[in-house]
Amino acid sequence: MSIELLTRPTREPLRPGPAQLREVRKALEDRFDEERLLVNADRRQAYAQDWSSAGRHMPDLVVKAESTADVQAVLAAATEHQVPVTPRGLGTGKAGGALPIYGGIVLSMERMNRIEGIEVADMQVTAGPGTVTGDLMRAVEEQGLFYPPDPNSFDICSIGGNVACNAGGPRALKYGTTKNYVRALQVVLPTGKLVQLGQRTAKSSTGYRVADLIVGSEGTLGIITQVTMRLIPRPDAVETALVSFANAVRASEALTAVIAAGIVPRTLELLDHHALDAVRAKTPGRFPDDAGAVIILETDGRTAKQAFEDLERAADVCTAHGALDVLLAQDEAQRKRIWEPRRVLSVTLRETAPRKISEDIVVPRSQIPTMLAAVSRIGEQRRVRVAAYGHAGDGNLHVNVLFDDSSTERADAAVRDVICETVRLGGTISGEHGIGLLKRDFLPLEQSEDLMGVQRALKATLDPHHILNPGKVLPPGVSAP
Ligand code: MLT
Ligand code: ZN
Repeated sequence: MSIELLTRPTREPLRPGPAQLREVRKALEDRFDEERLLVNADRRQAYAQDWSSAGRHMPDLVVKAESTADVQAVLAAATEHQVPVTPRGLGTGKAGGALPIYGGIVLSMERMNRIEGIEVADMQVTAGPGTVTGDLMRAVEEQGLFYPPDPNSFDICSIGGNVACNAGGPRALKYGTTKNYVRALQVVLPTGKLVQLGQRTAKSSTGYRVADLIVGSEGTLGIITQVTMRLIPRPDAVETALVSFANAVRASEALTAVIAAGIVPRTLELLDHHALDAVRAKTPGRFPDDAGAVIILETDGRTAKQAFEDLERAADVCTAHGALDVLLAQDEAQRKRIWEPRRVLSVTLRETAPRKISEDIVVPRSQIPTMLAAVSRIGEQRRVRVAAYGHAGDGNLHVNVLFDDSSTERADAAVRDVICETVRLGGTISGEHGIGLLKRDFLPLEQSEDLMGVQRALKATLDPHHILNPGKVLPPGVSAP
């Protein structure tokens, strides 16, 4: 790679023209039948959007891969005809990462959904990227093992998408995010080359950690065609409590104190009063009517005694820091009644306003009270409803701006204020959803030109023709060696 290539400005790719699309379609028709190569607009529609607020972007073609060789064939044809390829898991992304903004091919991994093996002694599972995360969780739990990352969409999202975005979830507080469980990946590079990354062993110190580069790269550096994930022993005892507070700042002070006391529950999920209002309107009676904020406190362990002792200690700290009430779930049915509204909170909030922008910022845990106070101030100043909820225990808040078409400018300004305050407090603009399309233009607020330049250089090395998921993650700019 020459210095000249590394330092040239990245170009925004062009949409493929009719002749390119004709040629690439011809090449793909040799391999894929009409069930797996979608050409009609009505069948492509479903692939034009995801779970983000980034709008509709119609692909020119959709291919459903069933094997690694299929993925290689698509990339070979796309390279030859210079047509962009956007990989897609199950379309639940929140940042627009799977949207084909320059048209071209959407390469869906939905059919590569087989759990290929659970190796109990090696404590690992190997699966296709389109495997539903919840299916993988349940399969390993049947063998006494546990896959901890639990994005709230686990019943509809894919493990490959989780790796591509480095997904998190409530249990990340105790167990970490997807990246902590990736052992090995099979990846097709944009040039069509197949590489095995990482190792199917408990340890490895061999060479650069290229697998880590793929985790969180949102389908811009390679397409994951198989994952091997580390597992841990299943913690059989779980205790769950609902802790009420007068407001979100009080709740966040308490959860900061819980961690400072040396207790690490498996979840400390916060819901502010906007989130509670939405839940109360949809499913009355789930959360106490007098609470201005709640924390879902959950502990686990190998024994009921251990889980209960941890819960009791954490609840005591909350009480000492202003908790109004602690309600302990008595059985699985009560646990479910607490978690159900939390798991669908994003959808519930979406139903309360014509438009919603959802952020997933993270600040150092100690700054959570300051951040929550800022969120409330920003909502007042910009005159829009701003809900905050999420994985506050690890500093990760879903700040949701809820608005209608008449307040778009104020909503955009509120989002920018939230991002700027996050960065000012030493935080990061995405904790688990990724940058994708929606946060791409905010990246320079967090990362230096040099750091973005290094990433552009990596992208140019792996994807010299710039055909893989163009326009995502990195804003256009200059590469740096
Ligand atoms: C969640 O934790 O519910 C999701 O990551 C948040 C969201 O969809 O905004
Ligand atoms: Zn989340």
